[in-house]
Amino acid sequence: QAPLRVGVAGLGNVGATLVRILQKDGAELTRKLGRQLEVVAVAARSRSRDRGIDISGLEWFDDPVALAKWDGIDLFVELIGGEDGPAFAAVKAALEIGRPVVTANKALLAKHGVTLARLAEESGAQLGFEAAVAGGIPVIKTLREGLGTARIAKVFGIMNGTCNYILTRMGNEGISFADCLKDAQALGYAEADPTFDVEGFDTAHKLSILSTLCFGYEIAPDKMRVEGISNITQHDIQVAADLGYKIKLLGIAERTDDGIEQRVHPTFVPKGSAIAGVDGVMNAVALETDHVHELLLAGPGAGGPPTASSVLSDILDIARGTRVPPLGVPSDELLPYREAPHRPH
Ligand code: HSE
Repeated sequence: QAPLRVGVAGLGNVGATLVRILQKDGAELTRKLGRQLEVVAVAARSRSRDRGIDISGLEWFDDPVALAKWDGIDLFVELIGGEDGPAFAAVKAALEIGRPVVTANKALLAKHGVTLARLAEESGAQLGFEAAVAGGIPVIKTLREGLGTARIAKVFGIMNGTCNYILTRMGNEGISFADCLKDAQALGYAEADPTFDVEGFDTAHKLSILSTLCFGYEIAPDKMRVEGISNITQHDIQVAADLGYKIKLLGIAERTDDGIEQRVHPTFVPKGSAIAGVDGVMNAVALETDHVHELLLAGPGAGGPPTASSVLSDILDIARGTRVPPLGVPSDELLPYREAPHRPH
């Protein structure tokens, strides 16, 4: 079988880690797949920046759109980030010519997911986005392939590693919000603009993608109440602890009689509950269904290796020729949205 030639746009934390894994484990992946898998081209802002990877033998592109359209690749990986701009232009360009795309870009999918999924359906291209929600946890795969006919009633969870890291350290070590955020940035968990993390928008992006997969509800991160954690104080954490709770930033979407309700806010969760035990940069996604009742998937939600690992799982699926529908929901079946009332979890 012909080799699968991969082009990677964006060499930040996740992109550089992915290139490192593909270069280091290339021979093993080839053996497993029975097909050669290699990064042949990259696009990024700076060619000379030291990323701890050797890109000297790879084709270089300044423009990600040119890479997306280049006929020297079979698959385009978008790790640039941002909801519009070069990320959108490049993903669109690749899908338009029927080229498979793998992206970790939740902001892009939250804004343009339905458009991109339609483009992919029209051109027959695959669109993989496992890494866009809950970093290293295979939640998209579970939703698409792992639940059979189970009907989902509710999905909720901790979807931002930065916020969970901050809340955990504020709770365990009494450290200030600002210091915890600095550490999360240094560790490579936070978004380029960390207000996306701490004000809840990143969670809203991920929840809106999950809502669509779970309920067939049009992706709409703007149609939910969003409250972040920037106002949480040591006093709040102490009060919660005294009452037997921890504070977690949850994204919650549920089926109600008159539509889907989705919201993001800091939530008291009882100490001793499974979700309360998910600490640090970990994420957790809980699914309530009619057949399996509650399922909790937990694991690392941010950082280079876990996120790159999810990107790689999409690349492997495409290399094997596994086909899944981009979103799996025809637009005429999308459910209405219902205004979320203020009430406890
Ligand atoms: N900034 C995100 C987080 C990265 O902290 O969870 C993973 O999407």
